Amino acid sequence: MEKLVDQGRKNVIPILADARYPEQYVHIVKAVDIAYIDIAQPFQAKILADNADVYVKSHGYVMLVIKAMSIDVTKEPSETFKREIDVLKDRGYEILDMVHLEPYDTAHAMVIGRKSS
Ligand SMILES: C[S@@+](CC[C@H](N)C(=O)[O-])C[C@H]1O[C@@H](n2cnc3c(N)ncnc32)[C@H](O)[C@@H]1O
Repeated sequence: MEKLVDQGRKNVIPILADARYPEQYVHIVKAVDIAYIDIAQPFQAKILADNADVYVKSHGYVMLVIKAMSIDVTKEPSETFKREIDVLKDRGYEILDMVHLEPYDTAHAMVIGRKSS
C-alpha cells in the first residue's frame, strides 16, 4: 500500500475486501462525497446502496455501472437496467441520469444518483 502512495496516487488506496460486506472496512473508510461501483456481481445496485448507506454523506452522489450480463444473461439489458434503477429508487436514491454505454461497452449503462438525506 505504501508503494502505491509513493507512486503519486495520494488519494487512492486499495482495500482488499468484499464489497458485499461494507461493515468489514468501516475502520478504514471515512464518509465520502461519491461512491462509484463497477463490479461483476448479480446484485450491483444493492451492493452500491449498502455501501452508500454507510459511507456517502447526506446528499452525496452514487455512480453505478450496470453490467447487465453479469446480472442475468437471459434478460434484455433494458429490463435489467430498469430493475437495478428501481432498487436504487426503493433505497431512497434519486436518479439524476442514466446513459447507455454502447457501443463502447456492450449491455452496460451508467447511472448517476443522489442520496436524499
Ligand atoms: C470491470 S472490473 C472493474 C474495473 C474498474 N472500474 C477499473 O477501472 O479498474 C470489475 C471488478 O469487480 C471486482 N469485484 C467483483 N466482485 C467483487 C466484490 N464482491 N467485492 C469487490 N470487488 C469485486 C473484480 O475483482 C473486478 O476487478
